[in-house]
Amino acid sequence: MIDIWLEFVKAMFILFPAYAANGFPPLARGSLPIDFKKKWPDGNRVLGDGKTIEGFSIGLIAGAFVGALESFVEPFLNSYATMWSVQIPPMNFLIGFLIAFGALFGDSCGSFIKRRFGFERGKEVLFLDQWNFVIGAVIFTFLFTPITIWMLLLMLILTFVIHRIANIIGHKLKVKKEPW
Ligand code: CTP
Ligand code: MG
Repeated sequence: MIDIWLEFVKAMFILFPAYAANGFPPLARGSLPIDFKKKWPDGNRVLGDGKTIEGFSIGLIAGAFVGALESFVEPFLNSYATMWSVQIPPMNFLIGFLIAFGALFGDSCGSFIKRRFGFERGKEVLFLDQWNFVIGAVIFTFLFTPITIWMLLLMLILTFVIHRIANIIGHKLKVKKEPW
């Protein structure tokens, strides 16, 4: 029981910088597309207008700051976790930055895939939209800390639910165009 609880804490510890990296870009209202409006040989945009340099930058900074904030909580969490021989993943500004980069990279890869299948910018693709950034963040997180299968499962399930709810709220607040 306590094990799953700690897996949850570890998963959230890694997810928070990724959530910041995914949540802040719409606020940038960016206008410089990462693909410079270039088209792929298939005639569709490489990434589309939904992936901007401003959005990517604000996401990186937000993720790094969340990593820095978490580093203050870390000793407290770890003193508790070590009682169960568990280690909370290391965290600081730089690691937050790396996780955020992974999340934003995964998000851009998701858009790349969507464009190759001919989906317009903003069109919902279930699972890809919710998981692209988590998968990107997880791959980059692997560089410095192991991720258990439990952490991965929790991350995917929690994010699926939270992403849906957050986007409906973001849509109502007019931060996001579509409720997904
Ligand atoms: N955004 C951005 N730069 C990024 C990522 C996101 O500016 N690197 C902003 C865009 O305004 C985007 C919004 O955040 O419209 C929501 O992101 P997302 O849902 O990932 O983009 P979509 O517009 O849905 O585009 P896509 O179909 O490519 O996912
Ligand atoms: Mg979208």
